[in-house]
Amino acid sequence: MSFPRWRGRDVISILDFTREELDRLFNEALEVERDPSRYSSTLEGRIVALAFFEPSTRTLLSFDTAVKRLGGQTIGFASQEALSISKGENLADTIRMLDVYADCIVIRHPCEGSSKFAAEIARSPVINAGDGSQHHPTQAMIDLYTIWRRFGSFSNLTIGVIGDLRYGRAATSFIFGLTIYRPRKLYLISPQMLRVREEVLDVLKKSGVKFEEAESLEEVASELDVLYVTRIQKERFPDPSEYEAVKGSYRIDSKVIRSLKEHAIIMHPLPRVDEISFEVDSSRHAFYFVQASYGIPVRMALLKLVLVGEAGLE
Ligand code: NCD
Repeated sequence: MSFPRWRGRDVISILDFTREELDRLFNEALEVERDPSRYSSTLEGRIVALAFFEPSTRTLLSFDTAVKRLGGQTIGFASQEALSISKGENLADTIRMLDVYADCIVIRHPCEGSSKFAAEIARSPVINAGDGSQHHPTQAMIDLYTIWRRFGSFSNLTIGVIGDLRYGRAATSFIFGLTIYRPRKLYLISPQMLRVREEVLDVLKKSGVKFEEAESLEEVASELDVLYVTRIQKERFPDPSEYEAVKGSYRIDSKVIRSLKEHAIIMHPLPRVDEISFEVDSSRHAFYFVQASYGIPVRMALLKLVLVGEAGLE
């Protein structure tokens, strides 16, 4: 079987990838999990720039770890204050410089479209680690991999996504990813004010995936195989009073999990605020820490494919 080329590709949106390409990524990630030592010199002599203009814990550290586990090195920064941006340097010039220093640029930026803009400027591949509320393709890859690992197939699954579906880029990219993997049914559960954006609805409608918008988790909880929870993205609300009106409007606690199916899993891209209570962590449904742990093999596999290509390792 031949797959389209991975090598040298920009990773801007999950929608840029086919199911075959993502399956290729997941099989590579599985190989990484099985035998990480085979990958320990894959990126020898390569430098990856981590350009984080917005706060991050997991994404930044897991990219950093992934590069180092592949035998490569990282350069970068984790806030705008730390570099010449604070002296007024524009994004284009920063990207041009990183392109000279590194073989690949991983960028997180508060502006929508920033990584696409960076990809137009840089010769090296650009990986979007989150652009405003728009896309977070590598988080979606991890989320889809988690389900692929746990259930093998999507076609019999009913998946609920709850939370801030309007400003959440992780939720948006996950929903886009589900139009590629096509579960049996998708419930989009959110307060009225935080429903998915029109452009996301359009993609869903065109995909033909069966979906329903809902306001109450209680009504649908017993049908779900996967419950994907997201935090309300306080920092992205243009009006703080809008945030005040919706904060704390849903909470996954022991009462909610009693209505879940035996095998149902709860996912969350993290960080959580108060939307999953700590008592849930010890339940058999809690899957968010397993999901977070897949950040390393998936990002290792992604960097290998983008920087080295699909050929097997010696
Ligand atoms: C997400 C993000 O930054 O968009 N976090 C992550 O990358 N794991 C989700 C969030 O911040 O809520």
